[in-house]
Amino acid sequence: TRTHLHEDNPHAREEDLKKLLERYTKTFTITPQRLKMITDNFVGVLEKGLEEPEQTVPMLPAYVFGWPTGEEVGSYLALDLGGTNLRVCHVVLKGKGKFEVTQSKFRLTEEQKQQEGQLLFDFCAECLNTFIIDHFGDANGDVILEEEIALGFTFSYPMQQDAIDHGKLIRWTKGFGNPNTEGRDCAAMFRQSLEKFKVPIKMTSLINDTTGTLIASNYVRQDTRIACIFGTGCNAAYMEHIGNIPKIKSLGLPDDEDMAINCEYGAFDSFTHEHMAEVRTKYDEYIDLHSNKPHEQTYEKMIAGLYLGEIFRLVMCEMVDEGSLFLGQNTYKIEKPYSFDTAFLSLIESDPTEELLTVTGLFTHFFGLDTTIVERKFFRELAKLIGTRAARLSSCGIAALVIKMGYLEEGCGVGADGSLYSKYPGFADRLHQALVDIFGEKGKKIVTYQAEDGSGVGSAIIAAMTKARKEAGKY
Ligand code: GLC
Repeated sequence: TRTHLHEDNPHAREEDLKKLLERYTKTFTITPQRLKMITDNFVGVLEKGLEEPEQTVPMLPAYVFGWPTGEEVGSYLALDLGGTNLRVCHVVLKGKGKFEVTQSKFRLTEEQKQQEGQLLFDFCAECLNTFIIDHFGDANGDVILEEEIALGFTFSYPMQQDAIDHGKLIRWTKGFGNPNTEGRDCAAMFRQSLEKFKVPIKMTSLINDTTGTLIASNYVRQDTRIACIFGTGCNAAYMEHIGNIPKIKSLGLPDDEDMAINCEYGAFDSFTHEHMAEVRTKYDEYIDLHSNKPHEQTYEKMIAGLYLGEIFRLVMCEMVDEGSLFLGQNTYKIEKPYSFDTAFLSLIESDPTEELLTVTGLFTHFFGLDTTIVERKFFRELAKLIGTRAARLSSCGIAALVIKMGYLEEGCGVGADGSLYSKYPGFADRLHQALVDIFGEKGKKIVTYQAEDGSGVGSAIIAAMTKARKEAGKY
């Protein structure tokens, strides 16, 4: 039966894979025209989110008012609950855009993402407690702090806020499903855990990673106007004039001040799937329907780190089913959902050896599968297609914000972070190319760069800004 794969005839095998590659190229390629259309729709969706509450892309007021001065100083703690890890950081801000960070990192288990919500916050408080004892405790483990250290909590999920130190979880994203948390004030839940473990710390601000990144980037680079995360999830934040947020008019906040908005635009095209129908594939559909949140985070599921490996895996499984890959081999390992990490796509794209030996090792080591050189080359092209589509679609959200805010003429800086942005080869270049496809030469004036650690440093700066505002008697 193996002759079906033409394995004994390398030339025929190459021809077969070439045909398959043509098919997948069609599936995953997004034209400049399509990027423009998606972007145009995106602008309308962002505006709608500012006008009315409870929209699909909720454009959440973050209660961070204006840019940092760069002169924020002091010692702060930051707790970062992202999508993959929990981090505790001690940040010393030194002013003039300078800072020092010490941190501990804990990988979250799948179980922790699904257990009772309060237990997740208990875990956060315990990790924080251990960190404080390690860094500030004496020989007996007693913690004596000269003055109270403020803690900024970076909780990177959509939150409805009405102040900087409260936040109601709208819905879990990124595969989290902890019961009894949605709809509740996560700040209160976290404080309860702090009390339970007698952690001598006061949480003063609750923020999203994009908001933190926006502020941290601007702290060191003042031309930063937008911040994006391209990581496990995908999202952006920017600074808006309060007068342009109709849905919070009744609060009576000063129209001429600015406030950060957490767009939560990973939710773009959720539920109706109308804006990306032409580019959505059956793999996207499959991932969506088999996720713990069907029909939600449609945009994110097509571009974020949590899902790219899975898209790649689904294509391989389809080929296995069609009898065009791994025939006669035991494929059970690769048939396991989410077994193919997005980091593997990075590896496949960046293998420096002519024979793609890193890829050989990857398939034998993790999946017990043998590959031929033509197959490995095919995999590299496939990874490129999926990685490029993600980068190109990612550009639409940024482009929409640029259009909405009128940043194109002057150009603007975009602080970016997340595993895809910092580790996936070519991601940033592909993103920039897509911006040129959308805007022409002017697109080159939208410059993205590696942001400072928004969830750590950004959180500390916001804690400092919050303190200063409180002392000045402001909201
Ligand atoms: C998801 C979250 C969002 C976060 C992003 C990046 O989209 O909903 O809050 O900013 O992931 O971590």
